[in-house]
Order: sequence, then structure tokens, then C-alpha cells
Amino acid sequence: MNVSFERKKKGKDEWLTPPYILNALGEFDLDPCSPIKRPWQTAETHYTKQDNGLTKRWFGRVWCNPPYGNQTEKWLAKCVKHKNAIALVFARTETKMFFKYIWEKADAVLFIKGRLRFYHRNGIEGDSAGAPSVLVAYGKANVKALLKSKISGIFIQLR
Ligand SMILES: C[S@@+](CC[C@H](N)C(=O)[O-])C[C@H]1O[C@@H](n2cnc3c(N)ncnc32)[C@H](O)[C@@H]1O
Repeated sequence: MNVSFERKKKGKDEWLTPPYILNALGEFDLDPCSPIKRPWQTAETHYTKQDNGLTKRWFGRVWCNPPYGNQTEKWLAKCVKHKNAIALVFARTETKMFFKYIWEKADAVLFIKGRLRFYHRNGIEGDSAGAPSVLVAYGKANVKALLKSKISGIFIQLR
């Protein structure tokens, strides 16, 4: 099966977070961008495409592995506004989006060592992603969660 995430267009929105990442970060109140049929819970409450998680009210501690491509920016903007979130995005550190919503606004980042293997909606693990990933913390508690997560990588506190 060819599952090189980021290189492949079909199903590109449905790259599910490896469970070990979520387990290492503690419990989340809300996942505002979740599949309609999900193999596991990522938070206490999930919003899907049918709800449009971008327009709904966000609450509590948010887990945000957003739709990728040109959609990502809107989700990061909402994380910045919400101030209590961890986002998982590709580490495209030179982009305008990265500067505007991460370098200039996030509280900390953890560049994950190696390449993640995202999962499919059926719960099966895919091949390595086509790019490196970074976890982005908004809010002090989420900075602490990154620090104590023991996820391999490089942690940088930004503010
Ligand atoms: C990269 S996947 C991440 C899924 C899950 N959050 C996780 O961490 O495993 C992004 C998810 O966002 C969903 N999605 C796309 N547009 C959405 C919208 N407007 N509102 C809510 N969810 C949406 C997709 O169906 C997909 O399941």
C-alpha cells in the first residue's frame, strides 16, 4: 500500500495521529478536527467535518492535528486565539504560516525526531510521512506537557 503522507493527494485530510503521541501528552477536552468514523478517541469531545470545527466554539484543552495543505493556517489561527492547545503540523519552518502562527505566537515547539507514521481511519499504520513534524504548544500547561512527554526530539521554549 502506498501511504506516503504529504506526497499523496487522495485522503490527505485523514492522517491520524499515532496513538503514542497522544498518550504521551495527557488528556484533551476537545479535538475540533476529527474523522467522522474514528478508530480511537483523541479527546473527550470531537468535532468533525459535519460540525465544521472551525466555526464551533472551542473549549478546554484542545488537540489539533488539522487538515493539511492550505487549510492548516485557519486552524493554527484558531489555536493562537484559544491559547490552550497543542497542534501537530509539518515542520515547514520557513513558511509565512510558520512565522505568523508558530514562531511569533506559540509558547513552545517540539521538533519530533525522525518521521511520523500517521494512521488510517481503519486504525492501520501508514508509511513514514513525506516531511518532519512538529508539536506546537499554546499555553503554559501545554508547554509543560511537551517537556514531560518524553517524545524524542528537540524542545524549544519560545516565550
Ligand atoms: C489530519 S486529520 C487528524 C485527525 C485527528 N484529529 C487525529 O489527530 O488523529 C484531520 C481531520 O480533520 C477532519 N476535518 C476536515 N475538515 C474539518 C472541519 N471543517 N471540521 C472538523 N473536522 C474537519 C478530517 O476529516 C480529518 O479527520
